[in-house]
Amino acid sequence: MTSSMLTDTFNRNHHYLRISLTDVCNFRCLYCMPEDAQFMPSARLMSADEIEQIARIFVAQGVDKIRLTGGEPLVRKDAADIMRRLGKLPVELTMTTNGMLLHQYVEVMQEAGMTSVNISLDTLQSQKFLQITKRDAFYQVRQNIDLMLEKGFRVKVNCVALRGWNDDEVIDFVCLTKELPLHIRFIEFMPFKGNQWAGASVYPYEELIQQISAQFDIVKLKDELHDTTRKFKVIGHTGTFAVITTMSQPFCSGCNRLRLTADGKMKNCLFSENESDILGPFRRGEDILTIIQQNVLDKKKETGGQLLRKYEDMDSEKIVNRSMVHIGG
Ligand code: 5AD
Ligand code: SF4
Repeated sequence: MTSSMLTDTFNRNHHYLRISLTDVCNFRCLYCMPEDAQFMPSARLMSADEIEQIARIFVAQGVDKIRLTGGEPLVRKDAADIMRRLGKLPVELTMTTNGMLLHQYVEVMQEAGMTSVNISLDTLQSQKFLQITKRDAFYQVRQNIDLMLEKGFRVKVNCVALRGWNDDEVIDFVCLTKELPLHIRFIEFMPFKGNQWAGASVYPYEELIQQISAQFDIVKLKDELHDTTRKFKVIGHTGTFAVITTMSQPFCSGCNRLRLTADGKMKNCLFSENESDILGPFRRGEDILTIIQQNVLDKKKETGGQLLRKYEDMDSEKIVNRSMVHIGG
């Protein structure tokens, strides 16, 4: 691990940058996309060239991992060009996608040197998939998961755990890890603007683990400092499973992540109230390094200072933030 020059006041080194390529998405997940979502005009988005140049500035400061996010990163027309450009940088390049278009991009991803991908999938039932995403695409996504495995990618599956929606499928997801080398990650439902969050809809870590351990013999795997997950595996299974415990046990002390929104604003936390405009000053030829460093220094200790430890009592509309689809996850 290289040590980064982007160190905050809590002595955290930031060497992982998540870049949102667009806020447009070909799905309409009920927990992500507000019903009245407006998309950014394309002139406000970073161009492929701007993404490359801004990324180079972060890399010079020690960033050694870049994840492309969205909306859905692969709906962007020049996604392949962006991957090829970033593939030339000395970073581990990866992506979070809803999986729908992966079959069209697997070759270029390999050309760009990608070896891992995170694919979102919240249900293994096609009718429920349609209800959650408003798109009839379950079989396409499911096939693309197999395709990425065949092509030798390390595949993580992101599953937002929603009480009343998919808590009855937890065991089915874990069963997938029996034969397949998949890494299932159950994500606690997080509050964002307009995403119909309610404390009662969170299906938390403790309940997930109780449910799984009632069915299987599981072992805890070692978590690294920067991990956002608590990892486990069923004894004898090929793959693993994990829980992203943002709500019940935030993992901010080892956070190494910075974010760039598609319109070139920097966020030091998924839940940060503030964002720093990078693209505007960059277009005016101004120095953006100082802005980047200041943004890192402003990072709060935990969850942007916005989430309550007793998450059950929170009102998601009081949180000052963008909606998930405009941040990029
Ligand atoms: N809570 C938890 N996870 C979410 N995601 C999107 N919105 C939420 C939310 N409110 C997930 C997506 C994707 C990842 C980037 O974040 O499903 O897998
Ligand atoms: Fe699109 Fe992902 Fe949001 Fe679903 S969760 S609407 S796939 S960006």
